Amino acid sequence: MAQILLIHSNKNVHDLININLTTYLGAHIIPRSNGEEAIALMEILPHVDMVVAEAQVMVDGAMEKTAEKLVQFIDDHNLDTELVLMGEFAGGKDGTLKNGLIVKNPLDWEGAVDAASKILGITLDDLKKKILPEYVPIASPYFHALHSSPCDVFIRIKQGEGQYQYLKRIHRDDTFELKDIQRYESQGLKYFFILKSERDAFATYVSNALVLRLEKEILEASADLDPATQLPVLGESHDLALRSIVDQGLNVSTIQLADTVIQGMISTTERSKVLGPLFRQIIGLPAGHFFKKGQITLMVALEILKLKNPALGLPSKEDATAKIAYAAFFTDLKLLEIEDTEQLEKLVMYDYPDLNRMASLDERTKGIIFGHALDGALFIRRNPEAPLDVDIIVKQHHGSMNGSGFKTEYAQLASLSRLFILCEAFARQFIYYSEKGRTDRPIILDMQERFQGHPTMEILVKALQEALKQRENRA
Ligand SMILES: [Fe+2]
Repeated sequence: MAQILLIHSNKNVHDLININLTTYLGAHIIPRSNGEEAIALMEILPHVDMVVAEAQVMVDGAMEKTAEKLVQFIDDHNLDTELVLMGEFAGGKDGTLKNGLIVKNPLDWEGAVDAASKILGITLDDLKKKILPEYVPIASPYFHALHSSPCDVFIRIKQGEGQYQYLKRIHRDDTFELKDIQRYESQGLKYFFILKSERDAFATYVSNALVLRLEKEILEASADLDPATQLPVLGESHDLALRSIVDQGLNVSTIQLADTVIQGMISTTERSKVLGPLFRQIIGLPAGHFFKKGQITLMVALEILKLKNPALGLPSKEDATAKIAYAAFFTDLKLLEIEDTEQLEKLVMYDYPDLNRMASLDERTKGIIFGHALDGALFIRRNPEAPLDVDIIVKQHHGSMNGSGFKTEYAQLASLSRLFILCEAFARQFIYYSEKGRTDRPIILDMQERFQGHPTMEILVKALQEALKQRENRA
């Protein structure tokens, strides 16, 4: 542990240097009021590693030339002690020190901490490595689903380049409300922090809380409850479940959470009596495109399955429902590796006709987009709850047999993959028009144009048209 003498007349600057050198460099700090006192100590403790000092300090109403005294003492005694001098120092010929560094502004505590780090051979990267692993960020929306936390929760304050301070804001088992979390968010906070060692316990706690809420508010809700009232909880849980799987991978809690969300999507779909107004409610939710697209895809697919048209070559609705729902949840999961949330929300809407728009993307993003169908299929195979052959739908959901890129190999695909492709295209177009405020064009026309020349898809587009008409008549 390095021993550092610290001389600074400004109490705040003194404390900031002290806490930073102690916390981040693990140094032992010995405060001294002036050069005289420091030298008196160095006479009995000649192996002090460093002195961090203001260049001049007021002593009994007179200015002490602290820097000069210290340099002189170290030279005279031929010591290895290094100096970090804060303020003007004319001692060195070119303004530099033989043993140490000068920080010109006497109040620049960050500069002094940097200089001390440099001298001790600790780089900013080392500092980051040393500091960051202790805390992990948790995106603030996770806390929307909670009223208490199983561990202490911190916010992070930047203190300098690569240097942070963590302030405890929620104590373990404190209760809090959504508005408390929103207050932080309104000030621009996106992440809270918890200790790394408590991450797994926190993840399980969030998953359990979401599962309980979904069970209570959706799966066990009375059958005549309007599904529209369940959509906000479902949308929020859906997005958090996807995010948890990306953060933690598949484990007992994330598998259960995904399954509960998917059962919620099915239950909400089966309770819905009218489609149009429900679609508009879905569009109006604060949830992301992932949920909106998935939920509408599932709703449209189940309408086509209800037709029981043998010419479509589809399995029964009972057989297909869970497969379509699982596929709707998992198809674009791998896109979440794109960290830029805004870009992600746009990319999740891309499909075959958007290939030209993709040319401008960077190579990594292109790689994720072109591989997400196959990667998603390989991923879902590892989920023991997923129904058989869901991986085929995920792999083929952009029209490609081998799951790579965007193609139109419709005739060769599994019948459920074709159904999924059409319903997802419908959902995308519905979201797109809603966000543009366009209500003048029936989406079925876009579907006809989009799949023209592909007989196996044309027959499904006809079925979609019939299903929507029947639905309207029923409503
Ligand atoms: Fe996709």
